[in-house]
Amino acid sequence: MMSKDGFGKSRILKTNAMFYRLLTLIFILLSVTFFSFGQPKSTAKNTLGISVYQQYCMSCHQADGGGVPRMTPPLTGTSFVTGDKKRLINIILNGLNEPIVVNDEEYYNPMASFSFLTDQQIAAVLTYIRTQLGNKSTSITAQEVTVVRKQGAVKK
Ligand code: HEC
Repeated sequence: MMSKDGFGKSRILKTNAMFYRLLTLIFILLSVTFFSFGQPKSTAKNTLGISVYQQYCMSCHQADGGGVPRMTPPLTGTSFVTGDKKRLINIILNGLNEPIVVNDEEYYNPMASFSFLTDQQIAAVLTYIRTQLGNKSTSITAQEVTVVRKQGAVKK
């Protein structure tokens, strides 16, 4: 009787252990699947930002946002890009034509206005440069661009 009970217990324990191992395996598989499906989605989400960047910004600021020494400032790790949203939106709406210091380098070349882009395009490209190109800042919505545009700082 005793040995039978002991045997029975250990079988239950073994079954339990197997059950938990199976659960762990399922959990790992699920998270791997979730992760690999989640990845392309998060980059695919901002295809608009990527295409606007490639069409309108890349020629000067370069594909990696590194800029061109003494010609075009970088977009990586600059306070203009990762800092105040309103100032950043205004740079795109109005262009920029004043001496600026970016990462200890002085730049003074004019950048044209991109106010012809839609609020959605501007939001997408600014979200792209704030969250990619080595930056980890917050995104910008089309509504935020609309508000800044309405405040009337736009000169065409
Ligand atoms: C013709 C080249 C050119 C193009 C195209 C261009 N820029 Fe610029 N950008 C510049 C220059 C030059 C400056 C510095 C302006 C100054 O010194 O007043 C600048 C400055 C900036 C700045 C502020 C400084 C910094 O590096 O943080 C941001 C942000 C910026 N550009 C984003 C963009 C975005 C986004 C686009 C595309 C929509 C774009 N630029 C397209 C040349 C360009």
